[in-house]
This record gives sequence, C-alpha cells and structure tokens, in this order.
Amino acid sequence: MEWSPDSYRRFPARHQPEYSSEKRYRESILRLADHPPIVFPGEVDSLKTHIAKAGAGASFLLQGGDCVELFADCRDDPITNKFKILLQMSVVLTYAARRPVVRIGRIAGQYFKPRSQTTERTAAGPMPVYRGDGINGIEATSESRANDPGRLERAYFHAAATLNYIRAMISGGFADLHNPYNWNLHDIEHTARWAEYRAIVEHITDAVSFMESFGGARGERLGDIDFFTSHEALHLGYEAALTRRLDEGGGWYNLGAHMLWIGERTRKVDEAHVEYARGIENPIGVKIGPGAEAERIVELATRLNPRNEPGKLVFITRLGADRVQRELPGLLDAVRRCGSSVVWSCDPMHGNTHTTADGIKTRRFDSVLRELEETFSVHERSGGRLSGVHFELTGENVTECTGGSLDLRETDLSRNYRSYCDPRLNYAQSMEMSFLISHYVRTSQA
Ligand code: PEP
Ligand code: CO
Repeated sequence: MEWSPDSYRRFPARHQPEYSSEKRYRESILRLADHPPIVFPGEVDSLKTHIAKAGAGASFLLQGGDCVELFADCRDDPITNKFKILLQMSVVLTYAARRPVVRIGRIAGQYFKPRSQTTERTAAGPMPVYRGDGINGIEATSESRANDPGRLERAYFHAAATLNYIRAMISGGFADLHNPYNWNLHDIEHTARWAEYRAIVEHITDAVSFMESFGGARGERLGDIDFFTSHEALHLGYEAALTRRLDEGGGWYNLGAHMLWIGERTRKVDEAHVEYARGIENPIGVKIGPGAEAERIVELATRLNPRNEPGKLVFITRLGADRVQRELPGLLDAVRRCGSSVVWSCDPMHGNTHTTADGIKTRRFDSVLRELEETFSVHERSGGRLSGVHFELTGENVTECTGGSLDLRETDLSRNYRSYCDPRLNYAQSMEMSFLISHYVRTSQA
C-alpha cells in the first residue's frame, strides 16, 4: 500500500490523545506543518551513517536523557547539565573503546508519554493521567490534565529552543575537551572504586594534553563534536506535521528530530506507529521488552527497513536483568537468520523498574548494570555485538534510583525525587555506570 506521512491513519493507533475540539487540533497541526524544520536532512543522513558504523563495530552509540522533558526545564542549567553528563560519559566510553562514541540525546522533543492507565487517584480526586507536556499538564487539576492541542506547538518551540542552545554551546566551544572536564566527581571520591575511576580520568587528561603537545589535534577540533536528538514517536499527528520532503520525488524526513523510536507499547507491525515509521528516512529505534516473539521481531525488521539499509534500524532491548539470558539469544538468532540489517542497543532501565513499599517507582543501580553485562555477554557469545546503550539519566543530583557507590537506599529516595515519570540515574550514578561498562564496550568492539 502507498505510504504517505498520513497513511498511518488507516491503521489502529494506540496512546493517541483525544481532543475536545477537533477543529482546534486540526488548526494546530496545520500551523505546525508550516513551521521550519528543527533539524536538517543531511544531519539525519549523517546519523544514519554513524549508526551503520556502530553496527560494524567502528563506533558506539550512547543515547540518554530524561524519561519525559518538561517545558519548565527548558532553561540554561538543566539543558547544560544534561548535555554535560552525556559528553562526559561519552569521553569515558571513547577512551575505553578507542572508538568514536555517537551521542544521541533523549532531548529536544521528548514530550509525549504512553501511559498504562488512563486515570490516576490524586489528592484532588481521580484525574486523567499526565501524558507529557506536549499533551497535558503535570499539575493535578482538571484544567491542566485536559488534553490541549495548543501544547503541540509549544512542544515544537521548546524543542527548537533546546536544540538551538545545544548547537550554540557546541559552536561556542563548550564541548572542547578542556572545558567541561572540570569533572564533578566529589560525590564518588570516597567510594571503594574511586582509585579505578580516578585513573581513567587521569589517563584521559593525559591523552588530551599529549595530543596537544604532539600537535596532532588542535584545541578547536576537539570541541567540534556531533550531537543528535531523539524522542519517542508517539503522537502521530505531531510527527506527521514535521515530516517533510525536500525535493519532489525525494525521501521523506521527520525534521523534528534526528532519530525517532517506537515504544514497547506501540510497536505492533500492523498498527499505526510502524506504518508511520516505515516511510521516513530517519534512523528508527524499536524498544523490545520481555516476552517479545522472535517471529514478530523479524516482521518488524523487514517492515521498518525495507531497503535493508545499514544504520536505519536500531533494536533496543529492555528485557529486564533476569530475562536477558533466556530471551535475548532467540531474538538475535532469528534476526540473524532473516538477514535484516539491525544494530543492537540496550536500554537497561525500563525492564528493571519496581515500586517500593511506600509506592515510589525506582530502579536498582545493580540491576541496570547487570542487564548491561548480561546483554554484552549474550551478544558476544552469539558472535555479534552490542553497539549501543540507552539510559534515562539526568545531570542533576536527584535521588530516584537506588544503589551505586553512594549506596542510595529506598529511604533516601524522597530526598530529591524529581522525575514525573520514570526514575533516572543521577550525575554520580551515570558517571559510575560509564566507568563500569567501559571494559565491556572495549571488548565488544573487537
Ligand atoms: C521510554 O523510553 O520512556 C519508554 C516508555 O520505554 P518503553 O517503550 O521501552 O517502555
Ligand atoms: Co521511561
């Protein structure tokens, strides 16, 4: 069947908001479709090339950011801190892997969330759930929780402002290796593995000054980095409005982000999200959760990457630490046998969420690490490779996940729990995670 940016409408679509005024929704979409692109097709192509290289073992993907971005966090500090933590993690991984690390933020557009319940109990009585700032508001009042089509344009402008600032930081030299590496590691200085971590940081600092004194890399070049954006393609009206074709007869690009992913809840092959994603040129991620059937995954691979392009399709497994050994080998085997080009990444967050006795959603640092370790090892045993990792993290000192060398306990969580959706690794936990997985990243590239 013929594809168009709107052909998804012929298919069942899950997790789409209903609006009380269809007219206001249509008007909002029409205005969006008129706004300029946020990213450029050449950048999207370049990311695809980078992902293809990661699939071939020549680089490694680091994707990360908030579970959901808030409009209210579209400010200097939160953006700077998120950018900085991703940069610092990428430097640790680059050093370990001796290969470039491709940085992809869950940023500048992560405003839409699939939710398992439609309503929740709040102090003010039952309310529709929060679905992301692109759809409704977090405040538990009926006005704020009503789906508002005007938020779609606000999502666009906040995404544009966020990426604009990141581009300015890059071109202004923020990412220069000398600059952000006032590594802020005080929090982990007293922990058992500090000597190990410090040795890595010292090696990196030495390597940078060696390159400089050797004259092989000029300071400016070290600051000239690539950074890409991604978000979940959930609200199909929003995504279709940002889908553009530059030349008559040319390919269609979603120019709201460089990469889009389809969530675990919306990835059925004969439904709307897959229909939308199959027609665009952008690299597409697909989340794969526990219980996924190999046959369905193979269908997805062929549907989403009909030309079998390397770098087009990233399968992001999020099986849960306890299920990797049992479930991943079969998926890898089936995809290998079908011959589709797939780059594998791992999201060690979403399969390891639990709720404490006090009703707080959290994740254990150790389970996150263990899912990664097991995933690296299953790929290696199968003769393939894990080419990337996908985290929910923040540059702030939040207390949302337990464990790590600071050994946050469940009783610490309420101290600074700020996520409105899923629990994120904080700054220290994210840095530690990158130190701890360095070794696997290096061997997986061999
Ligand atoms: C997410 O990445 O925030 C998410 C909802 O993930 P998943 O689709 O894997 O559950
Ligand atoms: Co999440």
